[in-house]
Amino acid sequence: MYIILEGIDGSGKSTQSQLLCKWLQERGYNASGMVEPTKSSIGALIREKLQLEESTNDTNQQMLTLLFAADRLTLKDELEKVLSSKTDMVVSDRSFYSSVCYQNTDSIRPEWIYEVNKYTLRPDLTIILDLDEEESVSRCDGDEVFEDAKFLHKTRKNYLNLVNDEDIIKIDASGSIEEVQEIIRQVLIEKLGI
Ligand code: ADP
Ligand code: TYD
Repeated sequence: MYIILEGIDGSGKSTQSQLLCKWLQERGYNASGMVEPTKSSIGALIREKLQLEESTNDTNQQMLTLLFAADRLTLKDELEKVLSSKTDMVVSDRSFYSSVCYQNTDSIRPEWIYEVNKYTLRPDLTIILDLDEEESVSRCDGDEVFEDAKFLHKTRKNYLNLVNDEDIIKIDASGSIEEVQEIIRQVLIEKLGI
């Protein structure tokens, strides 16, 4: 199964995905983690474009949409291989939903984002870690372009708009690390029968 953790910067995705992998392994699953942007050369290029001195203007957002989509495809072969086994699980920190929510600007049609991400794999379950943008910014280093409360306020709203699909679950990420992990485990037990 392919499980995705989503949410704005600092919402706890990386912390929670590592704990979740460990828990799944303890339950006998062959669980591994994936992270976007990846460690590929495209991921490295993206990291350069996310530096604070870079712009979030429309052209850059269009360019990032394409780079993120290409970077995502670097994971596809490995993901397909892993997912071909019944006991294997992948927990991913971000997915194409990040593009849908972060690259959502007036100059980009949402359908275009879906189109350029057409060949990336779709998840079995997506969990959105919902957190107030001020709280999330206070948890970040503040060294990347999107780590800005105003931008993340809009992005958070975009995430909440996704929650009418039954495979996309929003959870409250404002509790302690242990509390949030417990909520995520309960969602998996309920939704995936794990
Ligand atoms: P993300 O991957 O969503 O950016 P991280 O897991 O890297 O978030 O967490 C960002 C920072 O916040 C880290 O320093 C982490 O230790 C801290 N953190 C994560 N979850 C919590 C939590 N529930 N309460 C307080 N701090 C947290
Ligand atoms: P990440 O390192 O996951 O940030 P964080 O750990 O703070 O949540 O991602 C880097 C930045 O890239 C983050 O601001 C979100 C952004 N991003 C997009 O804008 N679109 C995308 O498709 C992805 C995968 C990430």
